[in-house]
Amino acid sequence: MIKVSGLKKTFRLSKKQMMENGNKEKFKVAVKGIDFEVFDNEIFGLLGPNGAGKTTTMRCLATLISPTEGSINVNGFDGEKEGASVRRQLAFLTSELKLDTHFTPDYTTRFFGRLHGLSEASIESRMNHLFETFDVTPFRHTKIGDLSTGMKQKLSIVVSLIHDPQVIIFDEPTNGLDIITARTVTEYLKQLKTQGKTVIISTHMMHVAERLCDRIAIIMNGEIKAIGTLEEIYQMTGKSTLDDAFFRLYDLAGGEKNV
Ligand SMILES: Nc1ncnc2c1ncn2[C@@H]1O[C@H](COP(=O)(O)OP(=O)(O)OP(=O)(O)O)[C@@H](O)[C@H]1O
Ligand SMILES: [Mg+2]
Repeated sequence: MIKVSGLKKTFRLSKKQMMENGNKEKFKVAVKGIDFEVFDNEIFGLLGPNGAGKTTTMRCLATLISPTEGSINVNGFDGEKEGASVRRQLAFLTSELKLDTHFTPDYTTRFFGRLHGLSEASIESRMNHLFETFDVTPFRHTKIGDLSTGMKQKLSIVVSLIHDPQVIIFDEPTNGLDIITARTVTEYLKQLKTQGKTVIISTHMMHVAERLCDRIAIIMNGEIKAIGTLEEIYQMTGKSTLDDAFFRLYDLAGGEKNV
């Protein structure tokens, strides 16, 4: 279970970033004090436009960056005080993770398994299971640099899950995947949920959120504008599709740009 309380994240901008933004603001408030919980047996979606604060929220959850204010709790462990225990419980997938192109899937996955302190026997069985699930087996001895984008993404997923974590935090997991590959990933996330795991994903694809998530938080400009099941979001907005609900919330927010 994840509990996020009053999460705020402010970035100090470099001179270059200030020039790019075209103003004299020294800080960017990426996340403006948000609260939400994600339960076991649940897939929770963070849905929002570019620059809304999804990745920042997830990086805080994964304890890669510290919140400016507020707190993160993962299965009873505090993100600030017990970061190592939090990290042990979770898988974090982000496009920022780049696997070394010179190595093979087999070598890389073993490496991460050992990093997590798994025995050789459990690495072997977890790796075989995940390679089969994500169709990596035929490519296990191919250099990562020679793999397709989709295969690299699937391998990143395999690597992130090698230690069989309880909490899965996937930032745009289906990005760049064709619909067949995307389906493999979303079906596996559903399986993880039925095993009692806590799953949180970010996306800007409405159909992914609609089909996959039990509850959704619509985040814009660092704030949660609506949170709940699809039905609850339809009720809140008076709309009957997620597209329409999203635009309703966007209009209410004044159509403000995030970046
Ligand atoms: N390290 C940083 N330094 C300065 N600003 C940052 C930093 N990281 C993120 N931001 C800014 O914070 C805001 C939120 O960014 P974030 O990456 O969380 O958005 P996002 O919802 O993940 O967007 P996308 O859908 O494009 O991935 C953006 O305005 C971004 O430019
Ligand atoms: Mg992002």
